[in-house]
Amino acid sequence: MKNKTSIQGSWASRWIFILAATGSAVGLGNIWKFPYITGENGGGAFVLVYLACILMVGIPIMMAEVFIGRRARKNPINALADVAEESESTKKWGVIGLMGMLSGVLIFSFYSVVGGWVLHYIKVMLTGEMIGVTSDAAGSAFGALLADPATLLGWHTLFSIMSIAVVAAGINKGIETATRIMMPALFVLLIILVGYAMTTGGFAQGWNFMFEFDFSKLTWNAALVALGHSFFTLSLGMGTIMAYGSYMTKDASIGKTVLAIGGLDTLVALVAGLAIFPIIFSNGMDPAAGPGLMFISLPVAFGQMAFGQLFGVLFFVLIGVAAWTSAISLLEPTVAFLVERLKIKRITAAVGLGIIVWGLGIACLGSFSFMSDVTFFGKNTFDFFDYITANIMLPLGGIFIALFAGWVVKDKFAQDELQLPSAVFKLWNISMKYTAPIAVAIVLYFLINPMQ
Ligand code: PHE
Repeated sequence: MKNKTSIQGSWASRWIFILAATGSAVGLGNIWKFPYITGENGGGAFVLVYLACILMVGIPIMMAEVFIGRRARKNPINALADVAEESESTKKWGVIGLMGMLSGVLIFSFYSVVGGWVLHYIKVMLTGEMIGVTSDAAGSAFGALLADPATLLGWHTLFSIMSIAVVAAGINKGIETATRIMMPALFVLLIILVGYAMTTGGFAQGWNFMFEFDFSKLTWNAALVALGHSFFTLSLGMGTIMAYGSYMTKDASIGKTVLAIGGLDTLVALVAGLAIFPIIFSNGMDPAAGPGLMFISLPVAFGQMAFGQLFGVLFFVLIGVAAWTSAISLLEPTVAFLVERLKIKRITAAVGLGIIVWGLGIACLGSFSFMSDVTFFGKNTFDFFDYITANIMLPLGGIFIALFAGWVVKDKFAQDELQLPSAVFKLWNISMKYTAPIAVAIVLYFLINPMQ
């Protein structure tokens, strides 16, 4: 199975792979979701559990995804099947890839709606209509946007087309070009924003909120959210990293590459929190405000700061780009599968899939208006898609990938790809066989049987 390349192409270099995978990992999860779920789950203790999940579960599983993809050089379904076959197991393992693709479709559906909110806020910042507004006014403006399906549809459509177009253009012309420029720029802007946050007078409070570990606030539900988020933020459990790994060159070290990706992603999440919480505290807002946090508190802050309009535009542009490079990666595994299995053109596959996810997205954007009555287990479509993917499907996909890498793939094949020092390989192997699956299973168990 060695030395082949994917029919889709391959990354120009190891750094391009790191950048593309970081482009996938760094997205709305880091800048929009992480701060608000940290707020909702009480801060510090949640952050600590999240970091533990990244290190003990996320990074090892990411290594597994990359090596499986790179070994087979095919889309996730066929990659799992081929790697299983090589280790004399059944090709039915490919079904994990199928579940992953379904997760990708569901995530894209609500992701593109939020991407649309971001695009709308670029416009809002450009026109300056948020200058000098109060928190209440900003809150009502966000509420009014959610209640306006026509506007949301326009932005959702634009965001979907942007994502589909890049995937349709292919690995090198599309995904590579889209990621390599904007990720460093995002990082620089976040640092500028942290710099601003330091001047607001709320920095110490924001810092303490994130890094004071008060375990009395930790619940099983919070642990579940932290674990689920570690999969979401690293783009794990659904085949994205596997697909990206299948375009990775053979000579690059998987361990180091994955550490770089995981490290960058975590850094961006923490820096985003340190940029956002101080602004929230210094404006007397509630850190547990939920999904509207970024769209309400940040515009207020920008509306008050010197050059706020400029920073506001740039900030939302960059969040848009971060979301965009992630959205692309949600589509890539399925597009690669369609191209390889049905032997159709990439553009046909991308547009076909695009129409499906765009349609599902309409149900998500309608969750706040014309479809607010439609609920699944008490949640509207938007929340339901978010909940079952991040909290259930990605962790489940992760367990199966770990079990697969630990128990099914023969050590010699895994080590042939990973090339780890033998002590590190043992650790990784234990994580695949036991630590990662058991951690996920315990948390899922307590989700289903909550402790009284
Ligand atoms: N990692 C992305 C984020 O943090 C979301 C994502 C999940 C992208 C799964 C691809 C696959 O926003």
